[in-house]
This record gives sequence, structure tokens and C-alpha cells, in this order.
Amino acid sequence: MACFWISGKGPLKGKVTVNGSKNAVLPIMAASLLTDGSCMLEDVPGLEDVHVMCELLEHFGCMLRRKNKSLHINNNRVRPAPAPYDLVRKMRASFLVMGPMLTRFGRVKISLPGGCAIGTRPIDLHLKGLAAMGADITLGHGYIEARAEKLTGGMVYLDFPSVGATENIMMAASLADGLTTIENAAEEPEVIDLANFINSMGGHVRGAGTDTVRIEGVKELKGCSHTIIPDRIEAGTFMVAAAITGGDITLANVICEHLRPVEAKLRETGVMIDRTEEGLRVHGSGCRPVNLKTLPHPGFPTDMQAPMMALMCTLPGISMITETVFENRFMHVSELKRLGARITIEGRSAIVEGVGRLQGAEVKATDLRAGAALILAGLAADGVTRVMDIHHIERGYEGIEEKLRSLGAEIERRPCLGHEKAGWSLKA
Ligand code: EPZ
Repeated sequence: MACFWISGKGPLKGKVTVNGSKNAVLPIMAASLLTDGSCMLEDVPGLEDVHVMCELLEHFGCMLRRKNKSLHINNNRVRPAPAPYDLVRKMRASFLVMGPMLTRFGRVKISLPGGCAIGTRPIDLHLKGLAAMGADITLGHGYIEARAEKLTGGMVYLDFPSVGATENIMMAASLADGLTTIENAAEEPEVIDLANFINSMGGHVRGAGTDTVRIEGVKELKGCSHTIIPDRIEAGTFMVAAAITGGDITLANVICEHLRPVEAKLRETGVMIDRTEEGLRVHGSGCRPVNLKTLPHPGFPTDMQAPMMALMCTLPGISMITETVFENRFMHVSELKRLGARITIEGRSAIVEGVGRLQGAEVKATDLRAGAALILAGLAADGVTRVMDIHHIERGYEGIEEKLRSLGAEIERRPCLGHEKAGWSLKA
């Protein structure tokens, strides 16, 4: 196991290039199963979650070739096989292969994904959509089986605008007979990127990015090439890195439109943000508290809740953050309090009283974005912060320590040797 050792050493300055989006590439890799042709994906991030999705595709017979940030996927030998628990439990997004496998082969068997640190993560809306297209779904022994001679277009209303359910249903509908309508669909940019990928394969998806998506099924889909959109959550994380250290960071490879809610809330704290031809420049410190509520897009993204809470810990005054998307996404609060933060949880809200400076301490990452928040807090703390269980972070942030070091941060990856003496300097 490895840890990050971080020493709060002042403002971060410089330029970083944002990677391709984890939450766009995972559904698009799953969607490649819709064709027996070949797909070439560009700007694919080097993440543990991408590696797990590659393992799953290879499990079905896909032939993958990775070269730098390109991923070539050849699916002409793909055959249905049960998606095993040990792969699905590693990464919930594995469940996104259900729609493509069902609509391509008429049957799919996949392990129930299980919950995770941030919530129970049910899949009822995924199944509601597939059933609306005529799938016969059975549950047993920890697996879900779905069968359908041929899916037929249907209408499904999503009780919650679930990103994964919208994506799974969209993929299943792309080869169904007739028209499928998804009401109250998720509007996230990653859903739009998936729709663009399916349309590049010869599909007919309309309305992605709105709350109503219509998919006209086609007979077959062909391979295509596609460049993954930039990762708006990685970008937002580095925007907070600039704000929390009072630095000056320019982000390249961003789509500013995707960052509007994060940009708006950071501006409210007093941080300055300029749109330049290179991308986005974030500079200056936050000087006032801010209140926010996480919501489905175009609301403030839940994946930025923990990073923003880290910033709130350093803002003067009282800030409030309400998490409306997941039921248990405050696991980072107790770890931030170990760094001296003053946070009170009241139901689905956290009340954050800003403190002058945080103090370095040993903390552990409980999930991907919580881990990122602890790194950000360590960058603004006096002394050394040791973040453990960093495998969570590596699921979603490629080379985060190198990028931060290039901006002047003192951060090192070290093996976690168990009970190390507290207080070692980074130089030790
Ligand atoms: C996607 O997860 C993202 N993951 C998550 O990012 C992100 O936080 C989430 O969307 C919300 O934006 C990927 O894209 C791989 P949901 P997903 O279905 O699709 C409830 C990260 O850190 N729900 O939109 O699983 C669910 O319980 C990760 O990068 C149902 O009730 O999220 C939750 O409360 C974390 N029934 C809410 O919807 C269902 O069938 C949002 O979940 C499905 C979901």
C-alpha cells in the first residue's frame, strides 16, 4: 500500500493539462460492445478504473491495444459470458456493459454491483428501463440475468436522473426495434459524449444533454474513432488547488461550459477565473464563505462536493454544503476534522466554520473524491499530511502527484510501512 506525504508549502503556480474524462471513457468503452467492428479511442486516461474496464472487455473476448493515450478495441470475437463478481465489485461502472451485451446478444448475466462508501448505489432504474424495452429480468445467487429475443423501443421515466441508468438504457435502445424515450434523463456532459460516440457508430440518439432523450434503434452499429472529452472533475479539483493555496494555475484541455457551476461557486468565494485561449486561469484566494447544494447537471456536481468542502475549511466565516445526490457522501468530514477543520453535519448538510490554517496530520482516503479533498487540504496545512489508502485516488486521477509537483507542491508517494513515526519531514 502507498501513501502521499504532503507539505503545505504555499501557492501553486503554473499550467496543467487535463486528462480525458473517466466518467466519459468508461461508458464509451462499454458501448464499443455494440459493434463487431473496431473502435479507436483517443485521450484515454491512464486510470485503474480504465484498466478494470479493459479486463472486463477482454473477459468477453475483446482484443485491446493501448498506446499512450490511444486505445484500440476490436470486438469481432466478442461472445457473451457472465460478468464475474470479482470484476464488477472492483468498479460499479462495470454494470454499464449490461445494456450493450443484452441488445447485441439477447442475453446477459452480470453480478450485482453492490454498494460502496458513498451509498447503496441501487440499479432499479437501469432495470426499469431494460424491462420497458421488453427484457425478462431475473435475480438469483448475486447475479442478474436479462434476456430478450429482440429489445423493442419503449418509454421510461427515471424517478431520479441517474447517469448510469440513462447511459445503460441509451446503449440498449441503440440496437432495439423502434423508438425509445427516456424521460427525466441525466444531462451530464458524459452522457452527451456517449451519445456522440453512438451516433458516430451510425446510431440515432437525439436530445442527449436535455431531460428527454430519444433513441431510434438501428440494425447494426459500426466501429468508429472518438476523442474523449476532458475530465471536468479533474479540472475542478485543480481549480480548487489554485484557490486553496492562493495560487495561479492555468488549465489546458478544458470545456469551460462543463465547468460553469464550479466556476460560479469559486467566483462567489472571491477567487478570480479568466477564460483564456489556453483554457481557464484560476488565481487568488477565496476570501468569503459560500453555500452550495449538489444537484444533477447542470447543478453543482456531487463529485466536486468533497474538494469544495476542503476549500470551505479555509474560507473565513461559515459555509454550508448540502449533498442531495448520494446518501452517504460525507466520509471525508471526519478526516478533514483530523486536520483541524471545524465541520458539523446536520442531516444532508455540512456546516463548515473556516479556520485560519489547517494542521498536517495522518488521514485516510475513504473514496476517490474524498481522497482528492484530503490532498487539497494537505496542500493548505501547516506541517506534513500523510494520506493513506491512496488506491482510491488513483482510480480517478492520473499522475496527480506529478501534476501537483509541477506546480510547486511538495508531495511524495511512499510505501505505507504501518506505524511510522508521526512528524517525519518530507526530506527524511
Ligand atoms: C455516475 O455514477 C458517476 N460515475 C459518479 O462519479 C457520479 O458521482 C454520479 O454519476 C452522479 O453524477 C460514473 O459515471 C462512472 P447515478 P452513477 O446513477 O451513474 C440513485 C466519481 O467519483 N440511483 O447518477 O452510479 C443513486 O442511489 C463517481 O467519479 C437509483 O436510485 O450515479 C444515487 O443516489 C462517483 N437507482 C443517484 O441516483 C438507480 O438505478 C445518482 O446515481 C441508479 C441510481
